[in-house]
Amino acid sequence: MRWWDIEPVLELEHELFPEDAWSAGMFWSELAHARGPGATRRYLVAEEAGRLVGYAGLAAAGDLADVQTIAAARDQWGTGLGARLLTELLRAATAFECAEVLLEVRVDNVRAQKLYARFGFEPIGFRRGYYQPGNVDALVMRRVSDPAAPADPVDPDPALSDSAHSVPLQGETTHG
Ligand SMILES: CC(C)(COP(=O)(O)OP(=O)(O)OC[C@H]1O[C@@H](n2cnc3c(N)ncnc32)[C@H](O)[C@@H]1OP(=O)(O)O)[C@@H](O)C(=O)NCCC(=O)NCCS
Repeated sequence: MRWWDIEPVLELEHELFPEDAWSAGMFWSELAHARGPGATRRYLVAEEAGRLVGYAGLAAAGDLADVQTIAAARDQWGTGLGARLLTELLRAATAFECAEVLLEVRVDNVRAQKLYARFGFEPIGFRRGYYQPGNVDALVMRRVSDPAAPADPVDPDPALSDSAHSVPLQGETTHG
C-alpha cells in the first residue's frame, strides 16, 4: 500500500467498517512506519483489473506482531482473497522475526474468525467493549509460530529468538 492507495482504501473501509472506519490520517501514520530499514509495518493491497479489491496491514513490536486490518471487497468474499492477504501478513511477521501474531476480531464476525482459525489462530480472551461506539466485544486470537519449523537462516540458533518479551501495541482499535 502506498499513499495513493489511501483514497480507494478509505472507500472500502467505510463500506466494510461503517461503525469504526479508520481515517485517512490513521493510514498515513501507519504507512509512515512501513518503509526504510527501521520499518515496523507491512501494508499491502490487492488489485484486480486496476481496481483495489482488498488490503491488509501488520505491525511488529519486538517478537510480537499484530494484524492491524484485513479486508476484501464484498464481491470478492469466498474467493480466497482473505486467505491470500493473511498469508502475506504471516510471511511479513516471519520476516520481522515475530514469534507470535495477535489479532482482535468482533465477537459477531464469525466469517473472519473461521478464516483465522484455519490459519492456526486460537482464541485467548476477550476485550470487553473494544469496538465503540457500538460497545461490541473483541475476541483476541493468537498464532504462535511452529517451534518445529526450521530455524530462520538469518538466525540459526533458535534459543536466541526465544525471548518472551511482548510489547503491547498502543493506539487505535484494530480491524483484524
Ligand atoms: C474477513 C474477510 C477478509 C474474509 O475474506 P474472504 O476473501 O471472504 O476470505 P476467504 O475467501 O479466504 O475465506 C472465506 C471463505 O471462503 C471460502 N473459500 C476460500 N477460498 C475459496 C475458493 N477458492 N472458492 C470458494 N470458496 C472459497 C473459505 O472456505 C471460507 O469459508 P469458510 O470460512 O466457511 O470455510 C472478508 O470477509 C472481509 O473483508 N470482511 C469484512 C472486513 C472484516 O470483517 N475484516 C476482518 C476484521 S477482524
